[in-house]
Amino acid sequence: MRDDLPPVRPRRLRATPAWRRLVAETRLHPAELVLPVFVREGASAPLPISAMPGVVQHSLDSFRAALHEAAEAGVGGVMLFGVPAEERKDAAGSAADDPDGILNVATRIAAAEVGDALVVQTDLCLDEFTDHGHCGVLAADGTVDNDASLERYRSIALAQAEAGSSLLGLSGMMDGQVAAVRDALDAAGCTDVAILGYSAKYASAFYGPFREAVGSTLRGDRKTYQQDPANRREGLREADLDLAEGADVVMVKPATAYLDVLADVAATSPVPVWAYQVSGEYAMLEAAAANGWIDRDRAVAETLLSIRRAGADAVLTYYAAEVAGWIRQGRL
Ligand code: PBG
Repeated sequence: MRDDLPPVRPRRLRATPAWRRLVAETRLHPAELVLPVFVREGASAPLPISAMPGVVQHSLDSFRAALHEAAEAGVGGVMLFGVPAEERKDAAGSAADDPDGILNVATRIAAAEVGDALVVQTDLCLDEFTDHGHCGVLAADGTVDNDASLERYRSIALAQAEAGSSLLGLSGMMDGQVAAVRDALDAAGCTDVAILGYSAKYASAFYGPFREAVGSTLRGDRKTYQQDPANRREGLREADLDLAEGADVVMVKPATAYLDVLADVAATSPVPVWAYQVSGEYAMLEAAAANGWIDRDRAVAETLLSIRRAGADAVLTYYAAEVAGWIRQGRL
């Protein structure tokens, strides 16, 4: 042994699988994973999403099966997205607060079938339902009208609460959306329905495959309401505003490219902080793995672990059910 080496040798604690297991600072648990699920109106069989191999737009039948699979895998919850038939889209996104709209129908099914085992969550936004594809309604000049959109969100919140959603995911990035929805819920007596603020949501290229997943018709971009990827401080400010307005959970999105923002928010948040590993993050991993360029399962586990390490209490990920299975099998 060389005697000029320092006495501290960190490698001691890495020497065996047993050591590494004992000293791991971060672990993945199925309950900390939330599975986003797409349900398509009128589909008689699941439809593949080409940029997200392995993810589908569900029919109601395959949706039921996916819910039970997720519950058996032990994930913490499901985040539901509706994909309405093209002819149901209009300027106001009316299908979003129609009790017979696809998302509300799916929510009723999920609440009835797995509502005890999983936290049933719904995306509260307009982009899936509007013919122009924006997350809000438009003013006469074509810009997104913040306060008119809040009125729509209030109504959608009541429809989703009535359908049985336990947690409303406010992903539209309108100013004041958490306060508006909280007020509407409380006035209607829905005081137990919780709010997830997509607080620090960036205008990201990584949402690309999601557009196909929900059949979005957006032309243009969302840069006047989603955040500029250049800004770190602003993520904290948005989270603070959502907390002041009554958010029960705050989120940072996307995840991997925004781990600094996630760490900032996690350092001070008094409520749970979640992160969303979005469609483009999934697509990148799958594409590289399909080419044999990375080890898929290791890379997936590493990204999720990194998101948790940066401070996320839970992660929305298209891998939720699969990774929950790995954990239960003792592979992670
Ligand atoms: C808005 C919404 C989006 C995503 C979740 N909610 C799209 C957007 O803001 O452009 C993206 C999720 C993903 O990319 O996986 N309803």
